[in-house]
Amino acid sequence: MAGLLLSMVLTLTTVALTRSATTQMKDAGTKEAMSTTMADMDSKIDALDVNVLDVMSACNETFRIEEAYIQSMNETGSFLDENDKTPKCFIRCVFENVGIVSEDGKQFNPARAAVIFAGERNGKTMDDIGDMTAMCAADRQETCPCERSYQFLRCLMSMEIEKYEKA
Ligand SMILES: *[C@@H]1O[C@H](CO)[C@@H](O)[C@H](O)[C@H]1NC(C)=O
Ligand SMILES: *[C@@H]1O[C@H](CO)[C@@H](O)[C@H](O)[C@H]1NC(C)=O
Repeated sequence: MAGLLLSMVLTLTTVALTRSATTQMKDAGTKEAMSTTMADMDSKIDALDVNVLDVMSACNETFRIEEAYIQSMNETGSFLDENDKTPKCFIRCVFENVGIVSEDGKQFNPARAAVIFAGERNGKTMDDIGDMTAMCAADRQETCPCERSYQFLRCLMSMEIEKYEKA
């Protein structure tokens, strides 16, 4: 994947959940071949495949997000309008349903995030994505679950841009 959650819009990828998907997503899961990155994953995980594109599409039904927000997150590391709560809740919804954040929106799973965000940026393989997700998961202070997921993503995108786009 091209290094950002939201390039999943363009790239059909399957991920396995560490836990069972929340109910509304159960029907969205499609069994597809697991990517090679999945081979490295803990064999204990509940390998329910979820199509990230389907998750995004389902989350967009409840928490509308415009394409421009996704682009600006990708290119600048933040949303166009940071006062708008709905697109932040879209991020939480996606994170929850791909297993990056717990259902209460508090606990991050940096290893899972690393698997999902793994890929290239600016033609370079992001070999330190796990360090980045660990840093962004550590010491999150936000109490609002939507804000918390948004700030995690903002942190990660900013790090990616700093390291891979500007270097
Ligand atoms: C994200 O940004 C990169 C670099 O600007 C660009 O090449 C890529 O097409 C963008 N992806 C999306 C989904 O906007
Ligand atoms: C979310 O849905 C709206 C309305 O159908 C659409 O305009 C928008 O592009 C969708 N967002 C994404 C990221 O696909």
